[in-house]
Amino acid sequence: MSIKITWLGHASLRVETGGYQLLVDPFLTDNPMGALSAAEAQADYILLSHGHGDHVGDTVEIAQHTGATVITNFEIGGWLDKKGVKNHTQHIGGGYHHPFGYLKFTQAVHGSGLPDGSYGGNPAGFLLTSKDGKKVYIACDTGLFGDMRLIGEEGLDLAVLPIGDNYTMGPDDALRAVRLLSPKHVIPVHYNTWDIIAQDPNAWARRVEAETPAQVHVLKPGESFEI
Ligand code: NI
Ligand code: MN
Repeated sequence: MSIKITWLGHASLRVETGGYQLLVDPFLTDNPMGALSAAEAQADYILLSHGHGDHVGDTVEIAQHTGATVITNFEIGGWLDKKGVKNHTQHIGGGYHHPFGYLKFTQAVHGSGLPDGSYGGNPAGFLLTSKDGKKVYIACDTGLFGDMRLIGEEGLDLAVLPIGDNYTMGPDDALRAVRLLSPKHVIPVHYNTWDIIAQDPNAWARRVEAETPAQVHVLKPGESFEI
């Protein structure tokens, strides 16, 4: 088992790999599905996909109390610099060998304005390759795009996909995304946080498993899946 993913509610994840703890888009305070408090959160790195408040969440506070390095785009990195938060910036298509593995930024079709109105650059998704070669694609907030097929060509062990609709892909497009990505395993996120993104993840899982070879793992907040 080389990558353990825990769903913390909404689009927030804990990723444990290679002896490191990563948090992805740690929106914990004010998250109705939040499975962890910001004060308890531990992290070596925080991956921040874009500037929206339901993703930036508690990033600054957690980075300050843990000393974690935030990995995000160049524009959000500049915003974090002003707050004294340590960061490593990358951009779409660029990968970097971090101590926990190789992390590449991928395209996401979405917005990225920061909560205070600052410019947040372009939104991204993440493609993480662990030290022992397992690949996880975390789409983050995005609509469906045809170049997911190129990401799938890398050979995905796991894809974490939004299914909530309204702000991101909904169930129908997320099913099409599974076809383009051809992952072995899928975890749905970004649903049921609020009524506007209410979905039935188990119904979606049945459709995906009937129509593709992928296995879907519907987690409750706080539950984990390992590959
Ligand atoms: Ni967003
Ligand atoms: Mn969002």
